[in-house]
Amino acid sequence: MVRDKTIVLGVTGSIAAYKAVELASKLTQEGARVDVVMTKAAQQFVTPLTFRTITGRPVASEMFDLASEFSIEHVALAERADLVVIAPATANVIAKLAAGIADDVLTCTVLDTKAPVIVAPAMHANMYQNRITQENIARLKERGFVFVGPGYGRLATGEVGPGRLAELDDILGTIRQVLGREGDLAGRRIVVSAGGTQELIDPVRHIGNRSSGKMGYAIAEAARDRGASVVLVSAPTALAPPAGVEVVQVQTALQMRDAVLKASAKADALLMAAAVSDYRPKAAARKKIKKEVETLSLELVRNPDILAEARGDLIRVGFAAESEDVVENARKKLEGKNLDLIVANDITASDSGFGADTNRVIIIDRQGKVESLPLLPKLEVAHRILDKVVALLSG
Ligand code: PMT
Repeated sequence: MVRDKTIVLGVTGSIAAYKAVELASKLTQEGARVDVVMTKAAQQFVTPLTFRTITGRPVASEMFDLASEFSIEHVALAERADLVVIAPATANVIAKLAAGIADDVLTCTVLDTKAPVIVAPAMHANMYQNRITQENIARLKERGFVFVGPGYGRLATGEVGPGRLAELDDILGTIRQVLGREGDLAGRRIVVSAGGTQELIDPVRHIGNRSSGKMGYAIAEAARDRGASVVLVSAPTALAPPAGVEVVQVQTALQMRDAVLKASAKADALLMAAAVSDYRPKAAARKKIKKEVETLSLELVRNPDILAEARGDLIRVGFAAESEDVVENARKKLEGKNLDLIVANDITASDSGFGADTNRVIIIDRQGKVESLPLLPKLEVAHRILDKVVALLSG
């Protein structure tokens, strides 16, 4: 998404300006051409030399810089930009943008550009909550500006409240989402499930499995980056919710069924990467079970098969975590659940399947075509699966 794109990174006068250095660095490492524009106030916190060194590109800060490589700085930047990101954005710059004021390189560039603009506010909580700031933000949103954050937490003053610059992963996720708006899944609604369901035994114990959610989250992010509107139905995981994705948190298989069936009613595709417990205790004890007997039996009942129940005009992709006869067992699931595709993981290897950052999968389609992918990062696996979903969606 980011490679070879020109991103104008506007940095304004906030203590969070130092975080923009890491953002510039990450974008540069991902292959973007990052043109940093700094306001005068921003230069009180970080120097242009820092950004110049990180991005390897000139930093714009003066409206009338005779040494600049651009003829008229802001016009050139505005034209070249695929995206403008203002991070951190102070209450002052937000107010200026809302009023159409153009009195420095950054505000001139924003007023001049046809590229999308992402704004990541950072300021004191009172300034953020002030009605004037809220009205300015609402006005900019109406005009298509995309806001990310602010986060809630400890501010530079030591107080706790809203006003922290959004986490870098959220800003990066929003950048990918905005750049991918016209992707091959634009206008599509994709539902993804992730993580391992937890079936309650009593208030403190559950039956669970080793799914980390990484595969499902990667699919959700990849689909978002290709322009889809994504609903991620997630069983408990340690992962941060991806930016720009609607996340529905569930715990049990029954809750996952309700959430998936609701979300997929209007969906184009459902990808069930979750490891759903096949059984649940017949009844969860209301109080903690005491250690009073030598042996304890739990009566388990079958959980509904979510994929099989998700009928309708949508592409359905299942996953199979197998430890033997991988292709044969996956094929049986594909047929049994009448799926369009099944993605089989061999879970016997430590670098693939549960918990790993990489996966080695075999994709099998309805016609019986089998494609084995090499060991790849889960995000890359996600894109390969989505390539197939895109092909199926386009008939
Ligand atoms: O989360 P990670 O750590 O990244 O690991 C990823 C993964 C290994 C969990 C994932 O890639 C995976 O393989 N998920 C499916 C796990 C599985 O074994 O599923 P299954 O064979 O029990 O079910 C087959 C398919 O039916 C799955 O798509 C499952 O989501 C779905 N299913 C299963 C049971 C049920 N009651 N309802 C369902 O819809």
